[in-house]
Amino acid sequence: MNRDVIVACDFPNRETTLAFLENFKEERPFVKLGMEIFYGEGPDIVREIKARGHRIFLDLKLHDIPNTVYKAMKNLAGLDVDMVNIHAAGGSEMMKAARRALDESGSKAVLLAVTQLTSITPEALKEELWIDHPMAETVAHYAQNAKEAGCDGVVCSPLEVEVVCEACGPEFVTVTPGVRFADSDKGDQKRVTTPAKAHQLGSHYVVIGRPITQAADPVAAYRRAVKEFTEGVEE
Ligand code: C5P
Repeated sequence: MNRDVIVACDFPNRETTLAFLENFKEERPFVKLGMEIFYGEGPDIVREIKARGHRIFLDLKLHDIPNTVYKAMKNLAGLDVDMVNIHAAGGSEMMKAARRALDESGSKAVLLAVTQLTSITPEALKEELWIDHPMAETVAHYAQNAKEAGCDGVVCSPLEVEVVCEACGPEFVTVTPGVRFADSDKGDQKRVTTPAKAHQLGSHYVVIGRPITQAADPVAAYRRAVKEFTEGVEE
């Protein structure tokens, strides 16, 4: 299994993002760019960071009718990104449309589905969204739908990797945020695991933001995350 650390670059603009990436002289981390910077700076920021040699997870979580997602994904494929995502809640036809757009574009991007946002509590799932199945079953079911529609994997909590693996097999990619060093601040993340624990639970990729981006020494923090995650042992 190819395990790697993805650094969530949740910076407000081009300057702050590039200033952060300038810290890395030797390695070129896999980075996650999200809606905030994409909507603020446009696709050029993706091209610029890609040209600097970083792999990119473009986290835009597409969710619309199949035809619109198909056309949007064709444009994203043209950016030569390495990982993209859609909401499994958009349905199988929408997910298949995204798959088709990538395949027709010759893109090798890993296509991930978001199962349930980690901000959705079990109470909200039932009372607000009117989904009567428990969270873990819903996540497993959405992951199966995603696999059948041609997605390569899902974004989920490390604590859900086991259930996803049971439903979809060990090759189905799991990309897991909600990761903290044993001695770092949890911030607003509620259910967290360490990089080593994420390894033990079977995550393929961990997404780590603030413990690296806000660290006094981001390069050291990145190296620690890579070491702990690839070796499965806490420092
Ligand atoms: O700073 P932190 O490590 O909490 O950043 C985690 C990143 O993963 C953020 O970009 C956040 O939006 C994203 N994410 C998450 N939980 C999800 C999906 C994405 O924390 N379920």
